[in-house]
Amino acid sequence: ARLLGARRVVGSAGTRAKADWLVAELGFDAAFVHRDGPVAEQLAAAAPDGVDVVVDNVGGDHLEAAIGALRERGRIAWAGAISQYNAASPPAAPRNLFDLVEKSGRLEGFLVSRHRDAQGELEAFLTPHLRQGTVRDPLTVTEGFDHVVDAFLGMLRGANTGKAVVRVAS
Ligand SMILES: NC(=O)c1ccc[n+]([C@@H]2O[C@H](COP(=O)([O-])OP(=O)(O)OC[C@H]3O[C@@H](n4cnc5c(N)ncnc54)[C@H](OP(=O)(O)O)[C@@H]3O)[C@@H](O)[C@H]2O)c1
Repeated sequence: ARLLGARRVVGSAGTRAKADWLVAELGFDAAFVHRDGPVAEQLAAAAPDGVDVVVDNVGGDHLEAAIGALRERGRIAWAGAISQYNAASPPAAPRNLFDLVEKSGRLEGFLVSRHRDAQGELEAFLTPHLRQGTVRDPLTVTEGFDHVVDAFLGMLRGANTGKAVVRVAS
C-alpha cells in the first residue's frame, strides 16, 4: 500500500505477537489485535483521520468498522468474510451501510480470478520488490496431503502467521 502512495498503513491481527510482527517486520505503521476489543474503536484509534482505502478479508465487525472509518469517496475492496464462514445464521453486521451513501463511498467485491488479465502487470510490479525484500511473502507451510484438514482448521483458528499453504509434493 505504501509503495502505491499510502501515507499510513494499518493492519488487524489475532494476537499481540502477530500485530507486533506486522509493524516490526512487515512495515505497517500500526496494527491492533482484533480479539482485544471492539474493532471500530481500535481502528478509529489507529487511524484517527479515517481511511481512504480498505482491503477486507474478514467481513462482519471489520467491514462495519471500515465503513465507519471511511473518508469521503473512500474505497473498500471486499475480498473475503472469514469471520462468517462458519456462521449458522445471517451476519448482524455491517449495520452502517447507509454511511456509504453519505460519504459517496464505494464497496466493491474483489475476486482474484476475475483479474487474470492484470497478472502480468502485477508480476512486473511485485517481482523486483520481492527480490529486494521491500515486499515480503511470508508462508506458514504444513507438510503433506494428509494434513490438509489440520492446516485448514488451523488457518481458521489463526494458527498460521504467514499465508497458510500445504506442500503436497517436493
Ligand atoms: N477474493 C479472493 O479472490 C480471495 C482469494 C483467496 C482468499 N480470499 C479470502 O481471504 C481471506 C484469507 O484467506 P487466506 O486463505 O489468504 O487465509 P490466510 O491469510 O492464510 O489466513 C487467514 C487468517 O484469517 C484470520 N482469521 C481467522 N478467523 C478470523 C476472524 N473470525 N476474524 C478475523 N480474522 C480471522 C487468522 O489470522 P489472525 O490470527 O490474525 O486472526 C488467519 O490466520 C478469507 O476470507 C478468504 O476467503 C479471497
